[in-house]
Amino acid sequence: MKGLVLAGGSGTRLRPLTYTGAKQLVPVANRPVLFYVMDNLVDAGITEIGVIISPETGAEIQRALGDGAQFGAKFHYILQDKPAGLAHAVATARPFLGDSDFAMYLGDNLIGMKIRDAVEEFRTAKDLAASVMLKEVPNPSSFGVAEVDANGHVTRLVEKPKEPKSNLALVGIYLFRPSIFDAIGKIKPSPRGELEITDAISKLIELGGKVRFNRLTSWWLDTGKKDDMLLANDTVLDDWLEGRNDGTIDAESKVSGRVQIGKGSRLVRSSVRGPAVIGENVTLTDARIGPFTSLGDGVTIERSGVEHCVIMEGSRVHDIARLEDSLLGKRVIVHPGTTRHGALALMVGDDCVIELSNK
Ligand code: TTP
Repeated sequence: MKGLVLAGGSGTRLRPLTYTGAKQLVPVANRPVLFYVMDNLVDAGITEIGVIISPETGAEIQRALGDGAQFGAKFHYILQDKPAGLAHAVATARPFLGDSDFAMYLGDNLIGMKIRDAVEEFRTAKDLAASVMLKEVPNPSSFGVAEVDANGHVTRLVEKPKEPKSNLALVGIYLFRPSIFDAIGKIKPSPRGELEITDAISKLIELGGKVRFNRLTSWWLDTGKKDDMLLANDTVLDDWLEGRNDGTIDAESKVSGRVQIGKGSRLVRSSVRGPAVIGENVTLTDARIGPFTSLGDGVTIERSGVEHCVIMEGSRVHDIARLEDSLLGKRVIVHPGTTRHGALALMVGDDCVIELSNK
């Protein structure tokens, strides 16, 4: 069985972070989401993996992932010239997939469980044309929604229905056989102009294919917006982080709970309460770092309190009493104003959100 990871697309929802980087590389607990995707496939014994990339972010994805050796896999990069839909991405990968069964995994989806059992079941249940993963959600209209029967089979899938017939959302992990290509060949672009994988699976069922589903019992985060990102960070730090110190902590600093500190990082008169992850070459001076915080490589925090934040590489925060619930991109600087009359002086790029305390 092969793997197909979708790491193309345009990523409009996570702006401004995705102006300068691929959304699949946004870090959760200091690791790109895409790395967890690869771990999960490799754990299921899938090591021949095609990676769909876009012209805009493809080079960056390739640099981050490499040839697959660090994951125990072999990656094959497949360029999709435009984000024309998930089913279009599958069709684009046909030369790589050949007549293999395959697991398709959206590169921005993070789940709290292994897919190994579902993959194993699909390998042996030869009568199945496809298998999907479903999760109950409170707002099904924002997702692909499945209608199912009492025997554990999917009867129909609809993309973002206005009046959903169930609360079962389609998680971004699908198991297919080559028969999916015939179904894709028989569908037309949707009103939003994309070849939808939901339409392709519905067509597969119409053509007589049996589609099973597994319920996702763990958490699922499709890292879309700031609050989703912070929640993903909280969950991964809580569930998976292992404490380790490869940096230096001076006698006046204090570290408590599960905290991971990378090489070359220095704590000077600072405190860190876990769970928290601190990348490499981070400098903390007179800083208080609270739980559920991830600091990327090369971050500097001086005379400041930071809690429940994701701060990406090369950013600097100084002389800020409390920074909370924040997501900072790369090379961001946050510091108190220097204007004398209390005015704000900002330099901010497109699509940023600035929330100021009103005191
Ligand atoms: P989506 O979230 O459906 O689409 P998007 O990346 O365009 O995002 P947004 O809605 O924020 O603009 O994509 C799910 C995953 O599949 C994501 O990792 C991008 C990838 N993808 C492709 O590789 N090719 C495509 O044609 C599309 C639509 C998505």
